[in-house]
Amino acid sequence: MTLSNKHILIGITGGIAAYKICELIRKFKKSNADVKIVCTPNSLNFVTKLTLQNLSQNEVFVQEFDVKNWKPEHISIADWADIFLIAPASANTISKIANGISDNLLTSIACAFSKKMIIAPAMNFNMWNNEAIQKNLNRLRCRGAEILEPESGFLACGYTGKGRLCGVNKIFDSVIEALKYSSVLQGQKVIVTAGGTIEEIDPVRYISNYSSGKMGLAIANSAYNMGAEVVLITTKDCDVPYKTIKVKSALDMQKVLNEEFNNANLVVMAAAVADYRVKNYSEQKIKKSNEETLTIELVKNPDILTELCKHKVNQIVVGFCAESENLFENAKIKLEKKGCDFLVANDISRQDIGFNSDENEVIIFSKEGNVQKFDKAPKKIIAREILEWINTK
Ligand code: C5P
Repeated sequence: MTLSNKHILIGITGGIAAYKICELIRKFKKSNADVKIVCTPNSLNFVTKLTLQNLSQNEVFVQEFDVKNWKPEHISIADWADIFLIAPASANTISKIANGISDNLLTSIACAFSKKMIIAPAMNFNMWNNEAIQKNLNRLRCRGAEILEPESGFLACGYTGKGRLCGVNKIFDSVIEALKYSSVLQGQKVIVTAGGTIEEIDPVRYISNYSSGKMGLAIANSAYNMGAEVVLITTKDCDVPYKTIKVKSALDMQKVLNEEFNNANLVVMAAAVADYRVKNYSEQKIKKSNEETLTIELVKNPDILTELCKHKVNQIVVGFCAESENLFENAKIKLEKKGCDFLVANDISRQDIGFNSDENEVIIFSKEGNVQKFDKAPKKIIAREILEWINTK
């Protein structure tokens, strides 16, 4: 892939792995990218400004308030960049960024940066295992940053363990990958539903299912990484950098979905919606009686997907189905019956994928008769494959 017209901003922090970034800059330049470097003052103990300047063929930024035009430097550099790679990322800088501290040019840019951020940490293995650092990394992940985990091996501090900057080739490939996908869904509104609905019986009891919401979350994350405006309608708590609406029941989900649907381009119904709800919700806790049985009457929920498809104009609607037998036949029948554009089928007879698992294997059917299988892979990968495939159809 040629990186012409791509603006890559590399943030370098104070760690011995800083020298490895020189090689990385050369690789980006060879691919025709425009590269700018921002250094923390400490990083210049490990690499010189002159080296970075010569390699990137651009001015190297270190000082704040070194203002050359009306726009503050941290804003104009953030605006310029398509992607912000921080490598090596020290424990100190990771923690500052995670907490919004902006006490040098690099951390100020990070605070003002709203596009894709990739962080490649490098540090001593005890620092890496420190609970505070792991929590801060998780905060960054939840805000959409991609963390390239360090590798295990001999560390410059003399110890052996996990903490070594991951390979330069891996960092290079991750940046290319992110740039390739970052604008695939730009300008599109994507709605994703996730999790199992909760159908209340009384104030303390409910009927639900084992859906973890992980597949829906992975699809929403992928859509966000592909540049879409995402709305995730979910029954689960999650901390993500885009709009989420938490719902409980199928009826709640339908109401919110109807409100969001009109200006949507793509709707992915990954939620496990209950087919039935309790007919008479009890305002008071149902007491144990002397009877040996208790009967709770259920009524049918609307099929949200089918109803949406009846009213769709230009929206592309994707349904999911969980099948335990005759997957091909049942999926094709369901696709037609529901009236959606695509149906993603999971085989729930398998223990190693699907419900609650971090991996999945799916077959996707289009209403035009196209079929594509995506082999077992982390849900994150499957999510991107599904969105990409749909986007090319
Ligand atoms: O019919 P089945 O439950 O297998 O269909 C699953 C698909 O239909 C999923 O996309 C799910 O979100 C959707 N669905 C729905 N409303 C229901 C039941 C399922 O939208 N009441």
